Amino acid sequence: MIDRRSTLKLMGAAAGTVSLGLGSLSSKAIAKEADAIVAQRPDQRLSRILFGSCAHQDKDQPIWAPINQLNPDLFIMLGDNIYGDTRDMAVLADKYHRLGAKEGFRQLRATTPVIATWDDHDYGENDAGFEYPMKEQSKELFLDFWGDDHGARRRADDGIYTSYEFGPEHERVQVIMLDLRWNRTPLMHVDADEAKRRDQMALGPYLPVMDEGATMLGDKQWAWLEGELKKPARVRIIGSSLQFVSTFPGWEAWSLFPNERQRMIDLIGRTKAEGVLFISGDTHWAEISRQSDHSPYPLYDFTSSGLTQTWHNISPNAYRLPGCMYTKVNFGVIEIDWDVPDPMIVLQARNELGMSVFEKTLLLSHLSPS
Ligand SMILES: [Fe+2]
Repeated sequence: MIDRRSTLKLMGAAAGTVSLGLGSLSSKAIAKEADAIVAQRPDQRLSRILFGSCAHQDKDQPIWAPINQLNPDLFIMLGDNIYGDTRDMAVLADKYHRLGAKEGFRQLRATTPVIATWDDHDYGENDAGFEYPMKEQSKELFLDFWGDDHGARRRADDGIYTSYEFGPEHERVQVIMLDLRWNRTPLMHVDADEAKRRDQMALGPYLPVMDEGATMLGDKQWAWLEGELKKPARVRIIGSSLQFVSTFPGWEAWSLFPNERQRMIDLIGRTKAEGVLFISGDTHWAEISRQSDHSPYPLYDFTSSGLTQTWHNISPNAYRLPGCMYTKVNFGVIEIDWDVPDPMIVLQARNELGMSVFEKTLLLSHLSPS
């Protein structure tokens, strides 16, 4: 999300800057960034996972300093990793290059495995879905920049969704990275007057879409996800660029597609997948949501946003945990203590000084039917 109010302006500008190919200089710049990627370490147990979203390439990004100081085992970029917002692939490539040139970010990539999915702005346009005409080319740039040994399969798939496994079997962490853009069917927008009225209540301009056939993931990604949830793992982090658990805000979130949202909960139940923890970005604030009703076990969604972006008009969310919200720049920390009989998971948001601004402690046994 965001710059929400400039949606039309951006779309209008984008329509006027269509380009069919990559500039050769930009392609080289992207390939050079990919050289810096550290190979994954699949046998390493994960104890400290950091994540973030919404990093504007034209802003200073001092937040990489406390991130690097924590020396994470893994860093997850959850989308809006740059503000591309273009159909011109040379422009998109240049914006990736600007992120890649940030000293703190370069340091992170030199020392830490970094994995990524995209949201609308790095996919290409504000709130865009399957209709974005440059998605094939944008995917190439994404994979050139974030590339790892999953690249070949992601290039062949309908989107960039993938998964990773870390650690020995008794400490296995599965990280499932969803693609909420490639196949997402159209949103339903209220009229301009209603949008203004809703803005006063911190509600966005979208309505829930109930049509049969409306989808966030598309059939192929759903089938893949079912297979993933059946794999053995103790902790399953589902990286969703948009909030999963939050109640309807009128902005982009799973709550705009209630049938798809329920499908996910049903799938977690049917596959008996335990240890699920959602992480999300996009909102420009941080919070933890928890849904305990109508789900096999409490579903947590830890949102961290943004690495540079902030927002003043926080939407209501009945599932928000009291005290677990923060509106300035932040990143998310997930600490897992494996050395106790019931592994302890600490969810903590930190600010650009690296100070904790809220935290919530769970036991792994909470993430399974009681
Ligand atoms: Fe977004």
